[in-house]
Amino acid sequence: MNNSDHSLNIVRRPRRNRLSPSIRALTQETRLLVSDLVAPLFVKETGGEPEPITSMPGQFRYNVADLVKECGELEALGIPAVALFPQISDKHKDDVGSYALAEQNVLFAAIKAVKEAHPELVIISDVALDPYTDHGHDGLVDEKTGIVVNDATVEILCKLSVALVESGADIVAPSDMMDGRIGAIRTALDESGYINRGILAYSAKFASAYYGPFRDAVGSKKSPDAPPLDKRNYQLNPANAREAMLEAQLDEEEGADMLMVKPAGLYLDIIAQMRQQTNLPVAAYQVSGEYAQIHAAAEKGWLNLESTRDESLLAIKRAGADFILTYFAKDIARILAE
Ligand code: PBG
Repeated sequence: MNNSDHSLNIVRRPRRNRLSPSIRALTQETRLLVSDLVAPLFVKETGGEPEPITSMPGQFRYNVADLVKECGELEALGIPAVALFPQISDKHKDDVGSYALAEQNVLFAAIKAVKEAHPELVIISDVALDPYTDHGHDGLVDEKTGIVVNDATVEILCKLSVALVESGADIVAPSDMMDGRIGAIRTALDESGYINRGILAYSAKFASAYYGPFRDAVGSKKSPDAPPLDKRNYQLNPANAREAMLEAQLDEEEGADMLMVKPAGLYLDIIAQMRQQTNLPVAAYQVSGEYAQIHAAAEKGWLNLESTRDESLLAIKRAGADFILTYFAKDIARILAE
């Protein structure tokens, strides 16, 4: 067909910049790099084969030796950091999460082993009590009110943070949402001489339905069909953006080195606002439910796995995230290495 017969009288034709793969490459504003990626990994107390996590296809709970191997592969692909989570046996759980500080806590052994084998790989270690409590909450629960007790929980988190960096963690990432924990942990680390270990604050962690598969993975659910744990007395209300900015401001004032938004894909506005508010690096956590959702739809043939995955991560980066915790880290790193 002849264009000139039907030409609109317009000067601006933005499509000129999209007409070929080469020009699209030139004009692309955001790119996902392997250096943007942090791989969350699960470690189990028991030996044996890696256990597949049903609701997170392609993800496993590793024994310590296999975890070290996996970290080696991730590092070889160029991934700069891993975030480690333990799965603790029910018999080691109690209502105050005592096992968090037990010398035998597998997380300490895992961090030591990974650091020894791969000293350059940054180890981010989550700080919260949910893997260790029988009720699955991130802290101590007041029996009368059912509310998580703030200050006594923070005291334990400080000890846990020191123990984690003693084992070799480079960065501790408190995911508990207690008030004042960043300042308290900073003081505890400094007083123990760990002035160069960082804090990645889960500043804007929302009480989200999207953590379900993770709770399966770490076994912080009472039973497979138990209703989702209600963490609304500490995690943020998904309706609140200003409150998220307040949390970010407080964490920055208290000495956080980096801030995080979690979940990521549904909270792009929060990522963008936080990027504006702070000069600290802003991380985003594409959580288990976001990963599971893409996989489930792809399994049904309703969405294309690769393109949905890539778009979900690009959108998080475009919103302003400096780096992204994602269960897709290895897949993406492999593609970028091709
Ligand atoms: C717990 C913690 C959670 C996640 C990371 N740390 C779950 C929760 O708050 O219940 C979720 C991660 C994910 O869903 O991938 N402190």
